[in-house]
Amino acid sequence: MASKNCILIFLTLVSIFLPLTQSIHFKFPAVFNFGDSNSDTGNLVAAGIESIRPPYGEIHFQIPSGRYCDGRLIIDFLMDAMELPFLNAYLESVGVPNFRKGCNFAAAGSTILPATATSVCPFSFGIQVNQFLRFKARVLELLAKGKKFNKYIPAENYFEKGLYMFDIGQNDLAGAFYSKTFDQIVASIPNILVEFETGIKKLYDQGARNFWIHNTGPLGCLTQNVAKFGTDPSKLDELGCVSGHNQAAKLFNLQLHALTKKLQDQHSDSNITYVDIYTIKSNLIANYSRYGFEQPIMACCGYGGPPLNYDRRIVCGQTKVLDGTSATAQACNDSTEYVNWDGIHYSEAANQYISSQILTGKFSDPPFADKMPFLLNLQF
Ligand SMILES: *[C@@H]1O[C@H](CO)[C@@H](O)[C@H](O)[C@H]1NC(C)=O
Ligand SMILES: *[C@@H]1O[C@H](CO)[C@@H](O)[C@H](O)[C@H]1NC(C)=O
Ligand SMILES: *[C@@H]1O[C@H](CO)[C@@H](O)[C@H](O)[C@H]1NC(C)=O
Repeated sequence: MASKNCILIFLTLVSIFLPLTQSIHFKFPAVFNFGDSNSDTGNLVAAGIESIRPPYGEIHFQIPSGRYCDGRLIIDFLMDAMELPFLNAYLESVGVPNFRKGCNFAAAGSTILPATATSVCPFSFGIQVNQFLRFKARVLELLAKGKKFNKYIPAENYFEKGLYMFDIGQNDLAGAFYSKTFDQIVASIPNILVEFETGIKKLYDQGARNFWIHNTGPLGCLTQNVAKFGTDPSKLDELGCVSGHNQAAKLFNLQLHALTKKLQDQHSDSNITYVDIYTIKSNLIANYSRYGFEQPIMACCGYGGPPLNYDRRIVCGQTKVLDGTSATAQACNDSTEYVNWDGIHYSEAANQYISSQILTGKFSDPPFADKMPFLLNLQF
């Protein structure tokens, strides 16, 4: 009984203080997101560069939703926790796209460095930032003409109090491994980050003040990289991931972290949060069974069967003649048992776990564990 009363008192206290904490720190009127397939909600597909077939989207949207996943991405779970609707892709032109709570510029395959003739995706970070500048200019133009953009939020709040999120860099590193040595890749990291800094500064000059920067995950654990670069077992670490890829990702993250600290020092009027996605994802892969998964590396949707169920010649959802016979890369029976969805991207179940860890606040610098606003949001 006594403990029940304690819980009641605790709940009452929480509900008294909850609105205050939220409105000060974690209520964003809008979110602007930049990145690659980890957070693309439909740009590459809307641009007509790639199409995604079923079974993509099967467990949440029922149809391919423009996301490289069987369901929701980390960004979707974060938007949910912030009580904001899913972000529309900037390039989506059909179906009354709604940008009142933000806009998503992320595009699958994109890099921080400018795209080249052989890039999968032309919308590199600099282009995404330019798309934002154009978006902002158009919104302000419409407002100046007296058009209602958003009856609830004045434009200055929308852009200046909005949250700017970033999850990009993975493709700069992963792509480089096809043509460069490890040393060359490590040597190129500062250049990649100069380009990133340039984009962040442009956004700051446009009034952005709240930045949330995800670091890059353990690339070497992606099925695709294990299949291509892990054929020699001496290249694999104790988790079965390609060591060189993970080393490069860690070195990238160290420098990205230092950059976020430098930017925070230079801009005391801003909040710059660094989120350690690497640690969350590698913990998930190492300790998968504890979190309810059965397969840490094998792809759910793919071709070839165990141990990787991945064949680079045939992508998830595709049917093709391979070596004289028809082959289909189809989904496993239960994607919630798999960390990896299609060999390159995480499953919805994994994304949900990763988001829940982000929302503890313990993997952020500065941490927000003391406030735990999202957890409270999720629970009450
Ligand atoms: C940054 O966060 C602090 C609290 O940590 C808050 O008081 C301040 O308003 C935030 N700054 C901006 C520009 O949102
Ligand atoms: C797996 O879990 C153990 C025990 O909690 C922890 O010490 C270890 O760091 C985890 N592995 C990774 C790679 O995070
Ligand atoms: C998937 O389910 C079908 C039908 O229940 C079963 O025959 C098949 O063995 C299952 N496949 C795997 C990989 O578990």
